[in-house]
Amino acid sequence: MSEARTESWKEPLLPKAKSDDRSRMRAVANNLILHLHPTKVPAPALRWSYTWGLGGISALLATMLAVTGVLLMFRYDASVERAYTSIQYLETQVFFGSLVRAIHHWSANLLIITVFLHLLRVFFTGGFKKGRAANWIVGVTLLLLVVAFNFTGYLLPWDQLAFWAITVGTSLLGYVPLVGTAVSNFLLAGPEVGQGALRNFYAIHVAVLPAVLVLLMSYHFWKVRKDGGISQPGAMPAEEGHKKLRIVRLTTIPHLVQRELAAALVVIAALALWAMLVPAPLEELANPAHPPNPAKAAWYFMGLQELLLHMHPLAAMIFPGFVLLAITLIPYWDRGEADIGIYFRSREGAFMALAGAFFALALVPLLVLADEYWIDLPALLPTWPTILSNGLVPLLLSLAGLAIIYFIMRVGARTNHAESLVGLFTFVVVSFIVLTIIGVFFRGANMALINPF
Ligand code: HEM
Repeated sequence: MSEARTESWKEPLLPKAKSDDRSRMRAVANNLILHLHPTKVPAPALRWSYTWGLGGISALLATMLAVTGVLLMFRYDASVERAYTSIQYLETQVFFGSLVRAIHHWSANLLIITVFLHLLRVFFTGGFKKGRAANWIVGVTLLLLVVAFNFTGYLLPWDQLAFWAITVGTSLLGYVPLVGTAVSNFLLAGPEVGQGALRNFYAIHVAVLPAVLVLLMSYHFWKVRKDGGISQPGAMPAEEGHKKLRIVRLTTIPHLVQRELAAALVVIAALALWAMLVPAPLEELANPAHPPNPAKAAWYFMGLQELLLHMHPLAAMIFPGFVLLAITLIPYWDRGEADIGIYFRSREGAFMALAGAFFALALVPLLVLADEYWIDLPALLPTWPTILSNGLVPLLLSLAGLAIIYFIMRVGARTNHAESLVGLFTFVVVSFIVLTIIGVFFRGANMALINPF
């Protein structure tokens, strides 16, 4: 690129009068922005209805968590004797303490949702294609990190909710084959939740995870730029016979930055309002002798806890583990590049997504009811050990079910591989959401099914 051209794009971004202080500040801000973003971005990638701003909103929430987290650290005390009272003090005696805690609490929960939705957006637009496989895998790791952040933070208030959710959550970990118990013992600094666990969770929450998250997020952003910006429709390879579209490029300042600022203001205002109206929960002081009934894991693990009610623990860990691995490797399952940037790949793909969602909405509650009231696999196969009758059999049936759904879409509905994958992926995601909703709202004492209405 010639020097003259390099300078010409800078012109609207640089201050005219160098002596003017405001202009200098603007130049510094612009410079900072242009370290994060390219100078120009393709117009289609700027559309709200393409990204929904979900990656940026996730980054904003992570920043808000860091700021409010540091403020909370000034008052929080990670000891079993004082953790709960330090939170009570913060809630009642510290100026804006309750609000800061509520913003931290709700941002953390919202972050899980926005990162999950961002994953869906990237999948449905094929944003993992054309050299973006590495960033997809980094993304899955980021999602797991965000969940780990939430999980380790959950214990810190040391109330009944915290104590028992972590007890249930780490007992789920114990079912992970081979390493589960060792990891759980390491995390808890022993077999049970106590002072060692609180100390470890605090250290992981405020030091280990932030360091890893900052590194991975920086890499994630850098990689988006390195991969040529975000995916977009119309950028199809000419050699495949597609007519290359001319894509209009707009300057980052002001077009992208204005949008980002607007989204940030809306999110901050909505979150602050919500946090003022709905304080973060704080139950009674943790009592290891008094488990609540039901003892539930954190809401984002309720899908897994629900699965445990229907399968042998080993199968209930292997099945989601397999699904997570398959999702991580999606860029290698769907390699076609022609449909990049097009939601659901095509009209047929959108139809498959709809079919997958409806199928999950109908089938999953039916299976839960059937397993609760009618089907008893160990009773049907009395001579088999439960690890087979209630483990291997439902595991194989579930995997076969997924294969059948793919097959019906591919052959029955005559869609191509990418469109069938969209249908299958939607089925899996909606099934997980339905299981989570059943676990959170439809399980009561002794984890029996209840009618919450
Ligand atoms: C803390 C979590 C995360 C943050 C802050 C984050 C942030 C971002 C941002 C700002 C972008 C630019 C475009 C956009 O806003 O959509 C982006 C793109 C991308 N993200 Fe994330 N992300 C996170 C997690 C994830 C996850 C869970 C995945 C998927 C498994 C993922 C995969 C990708 C990919 C592949 C791109 C490029 C998409 C494209 O080219 O269309 N990210 N991310």
